[in-house]
Amino acid sequence: MEELYSISSSKDVERMRIHYFGKKGTIASLMRFLRDATPEDRPNLGKIINDTKEELSSHLENTQKRLLIQERQHRFAKEAIDVTLPAEPFRLGIEHPVQKVLQEVVAIFSSFGFSVGLAPDLDTEHYNFTGLNFAEDHPAKDMQDTFYFPKDYLLRTHTSNVQVHLMENQKPPMKIIAPGKCFRNETVSSRSHVFFHQIEGFYIDQNVCFTELLELMRAFWPKLFGTKVKVRFRPSYFPFVEPGLEVDIACTQCQSQGCKLCKYTGWLEVAGAGMIHPNVLDQAKIDSEVYQGYAFGIGVERIAMLLYGIEDIRTFSRNDPRVFEQVALKYSSVL
Ligand code: FA5
Repeated sequence: MEELYSISSSKDVERMRIHYFGKKGTIASLMRFLRDATPEDRPNLGKIINDTKEELSSHLENTQKRLLIQERQHRFAKEAIDVTLPAEPFRLGIEHPVQKVLQEVVAIFSSFGFSVGLAPDLDTEHYNFTGLNFAEDHPAKDMQDTFYFPKDYLLRTHTSNVQVHLMENQKPPMKIIAPGKCFRNETVSSRSHVFFHQIEGFYIDQNVCFTELLELMRAFWPKLFGTKVKVRFRPSYFPFVEPGLEVDIACTQCQSQGCKLCKYTGWLEVAGAGMIHPNVLDQAKIDSEVYQGYAFGIGVERIAMLLYGIEDIRTFSRNDPRVFEQVALKYSSVL
């Protein structure tokens, strides 16, 4: 009986319940004893057994409740939050270097009077190729170079699609800058990726000439890299411009002496440009006899690599904030 008053766990309650109320328990043997009692003794004995049963069961029930409350209190005490403890350090993100360059380039061209335009990443053959004077069998249209989707859709391979979209809806004069993502189905290397950013720019008006484009390209790079930057232009071919050129920057990492970043050439190709081909204007119903235009497309990752001394373009998509923090610290004076 003493055991009943020293129960200290739910397990003991259950053990006691079986001991008293189980098939072979105390109450069951008392009931057998009752069966054998004389008719005179039976009523009294029955009452005693019933009272005992009730007392035992209410005692066990109360004990169980008390233990549950105790267990809960213990758990709460363990789980209690100490609001005076210092908080876990919270790691803030850091602006992605590519976004930083992108915004800076847009800001510079805005200061030159360009306004921002956009076009879709998922586009059609017409906007990415045909509207830009690409021949039907141009190698860039090959599956090896372009990610195609059903129903004539593709991931744009350059931001030049913005020209076709905007010429469709606006009339000259147009002076637009358009940042965006590009996708090319090509082998990833330290300087080329399947996913990268470009900034397209174009200006269409009357009497726009090639020297204006060259002057713009000369004025822009020092704003980004400082006045010591060396820029060179090389003739090049793009179906949507005539004449066309490519822009190289003297490698800022090795001062053009040759390093891994510039593949030991001393230069890095950063943009394509040229005078908008009359066929592109005419297709968009802009009279090429009256209007002329220039266009350019700048590779954002390549610029970020030069500005921040990043030797591998894959660094940008690995997205390790520790690397970007180091870059930000080392080059805090750059942008
Ligand atoms: C073009 O994409 C043309 N649309 C640019 C243009 C616009 C020319 C308007 C004339 C007029 P290109 O393929 O050369 O051109 O790319 C332009 C720049 O994007 C390159 O100089 C380079 O800096 C960057 N670029 C191109 N391909 C990749 C790539 N796979 N990974 C990273 N950057 C790239």
